[in-house]
Amino acid sequence: MKRALITGITGQDGAYLAKFLLNKGYKVYGLMARRSTSTTWRLEFLGIENEVDLIEGDVTDLSSLIRALKISEANEVYNLAAQSFVGTSWDQPILTAEVTGVGVVNLLEAIRLTDPSAKFYQASTSEMFGLIQDEKQSESTPFYPRSPYGVAKLYGHWITINYRESFNIHASCGILFNHESPLRGIEFVTRKVTDAVARIKLGLQEELHLGNIDAKRDWGFAGDYVEAMWLMLQQENADDYVIATGETTTVRDMCKIAFEYVDLKYEEYVVIDPKFYRPAEVEVLLGNPAKAQEKLSWKATTSLKQLIQMMVEADLKRVKKEIATKG
Ligand code: NAP
Ligand code: GDD
Repeated sequence: MKRALITGITGQDGAYLAKFLLNKGYKVYGLMARRSTSTTWRLEFLGIENEVDLIEGDVTDLSSLIRALKISEANEVYNLAAQSFVGTSWDQPILTAEVTGVGVVNLLEAIRLTDPSAKFYQASTSEMFGLIQDEKQSESTPFYPRSPYGVAKLYGHWITINYRESFNIHASCGILFNHESPLRGIEFVTRKVTDAVARIKLGLQEELHLGNIDAKRDWGFAGDYVEAMWLMLQQENADDYVIATGETTTVRDMCKIAFEYVDLKYEEYVVIDPKFYRPAEVEVLLGNPAKAQEKLSWKATTSLKQLIQMMVEADLKRVKKEIATKG
């Protein structure tokens, strides 16, 4: 039986990846950071909270990573842990550097010290392209990060490549473009919108405050994207891949899709609030997933419309439940 260790298992991707690997017959371990309240709601949503083994640890604590690797004896290690919200990275740049950047070398060191034959996946990001240098970003597009998060991820990206080249570790980076789902954190724009649409439709909210709605993103479904992570670790040689849909849409048009799904007009509810502007913005992202398609036979299968509808449906269900519970 193959054994996997996922850091960030309580996050959106961690939960979907855990479910995916369980379905493939893996024994799944997850590194779980200590928090004062429970963080397992996503694992519960997918019905797998009792099927994964959670090990307490933190990517900033090398000893806990060594312990987690010894306990799990993982053949595959997926590093998804991060301070992943771009907005917060300006308020907590040092924590972001320590978790999202240095956390990666901690885990690579732990692998080097315990079992260098373990395969490693690093959650790199399209945010590294930042101020884009090519209209369609591919593996050969130069990076130009625009946030402390993007800068920290760039360190994680290059240190992963460096450990592959220095120590022959099977270490791959997935340069994933934005991917969303009903399990997306509420602070990210798609989920903020779909949650608001559900609340407005059900009479609990009147307005939706947003920042730069002219920003464009290449949005896919997280459920599709975790398969690409796994496929990278099944290749004979480690490599880096862009994972994207190849289509880009403005935040404005994404709002339109969400509001129209419940027969509302976004223009009547969206209020532009400079509070949500960023000190430096990534105006547009558009990925070229040709390499993943050719080498991994991977392709995004969920359209933005299907994705947003799935998210609105899930939020309508949640809000209705909330109303019923409150009476
Ligand atoms: P997410 O929902 O924010 O999940 C982040 C996970 O990291 C959570 O489980 C969190 O634990 C954990 N974590 C945070 N600090 C930690 C620490 N110090 N030690 C151990 N664990 C820690 O993010 P996601 O959307 O699933 O993304 C997964 C990864 O892919 C992240 O690295 C993200 O930066 C990267 N990525 C995401 C996207 C995207 O569009 N979703 C695109 C490209 C790359 P708690 O639950 O306790 O907070
Ligand atoms: N969060 C948020 N809230 N974003 C807003 C808002 C708002 O009220 N209004 C406009 N936006 C714009 C942001 O300025 C940005 O241009 C875009 O919506 C997307 O923002 P997020 O959903 O927060 O995602 P992100 O692109 O900054 O980062 C996500 O994708 C990266 C991959 O490109 C995160 O998941 C990162 O972890 C990931 O690496």
